[in-house]
Amino acid sequence: MELSNITENEKSFDCDISKVASLAELEEIRLKYLGKKGLIQDIMAKFREVPVEQKREFGQKVNALKNKIETEIENKKQLLLTEQINKEIENTKMFDYSLPVDTKTGSLHPRTIIQKQVVDIFKNMGFVVEDGNEVETEYNNFESVNVPKNHPARDMQDTFWLSNGELLKTQTSAAQNRILRTYGPVCKVIFPGRVFRNEQLDARHENTFFQLEGVVVGKNITVANLIYFEKAMLKALFKKDIEVRLRPGFFPFTEPSYEMDAKCPFCGGKGCHTCGNSGWLELCPCGMIHPNVLKMAGIDPEEYNGFAFGLGFDRLVMIRTNLDDIRYLNSNNLKVMSQFKTKM
Ligand code: DAH
Repeated sequence: MELSNITENEKSFDCDISKVASLAELEEIRLKYLGKKGLIQDIMAKFREVPVEQKREFGQKVNALKNKIETEIENKKQLLLTEQINKEIENTKMFDYSLPVDTKTGSLHPRTIIQKQVVDIFKNMGFVVEDGNEVETEYNNFESVNVPKNHPARDMQDTFWLSNGELLKTQTSAAQNRILRTYGPVCKVIFPGRVFRNEQLDARHENTFFQLEGVVVGKNITVANLIYFEKAMLKALFKKDIEVRLRPGFFPFTEPSYEMDAKCPFCGGKGCHTCGNSGWLELCPCGMIHPNVLKMAGIDPEEYNGFAFGLGFDRLVMIRTNLDDIRYLNSNNLKVMSQFKTKM
């Protein structure tokens, strides 16, 4: 075994590697030179035959050649891999910008759309937007809004009670006390929220639905102020002047209490499917805040007064979209939901 053997092997490797065109061929070359029965191993095995005075130089040269072969094979491998990926991209046209785009997009829930619209309208009229808890105390949900224990009005709202004596709020009115304490005695606040009632489900009743509550408190507030804000809201929502009427109602937290009806924006009062041929839509329970409610929130009813109102978002969606079953709104049925995009 002589030094010239090493040089010969190097030349043959240079030649071999220059011709490699695939990873498979590269692997063949690797085995030929670096494999267990490869040429480098072959040379090493014959180290014994090298004359003593040449051993050192011989050893260095073999090592240098081995390193060179390893490096060049690795470099070539990376090059071939990159080429292969580029070819795959080209073949699969991964980045074909000319392909038509799938235009199916999601949409907001119709209740979310209505809520945003109504909240924006009140915001523009200077109302603060607040939030409420879904789990509430009996005090906040009932007592603080003038519904003491055993009051018959509790039967109007079948309640989901929790084992710790708290409840799932049955009305957004549950936040009145906290909000009046925080912002009163002079304030304009709305607070949308999800409410729960232990109801038998049918086309008109859900056990989970969405309301918006509003309170306005100050000095010398009158029913005329209440009507003004409601009409302004309806005008912004339906994009036209809407006539309203008040009927006497009953709510423990307001005195007097009213049911506010809006002249049907679809038939103008002539009678249609949406208003059940009555010409009017029952829209907004409301009234002047009961002095007890103000007192319990630390506001002196001799000095201040105000009004409160509730709005049902589910009902508004049903009116706007002519939907006749409230249960669709919690159904998560995409076939139904996707139809609202164009209707809202
Ligand atoms: N809390 C009532 C309900 O859920 C709605 C309501 C009626 C709210 C009259 C009010 C109001 O603020 O004044 O049925």
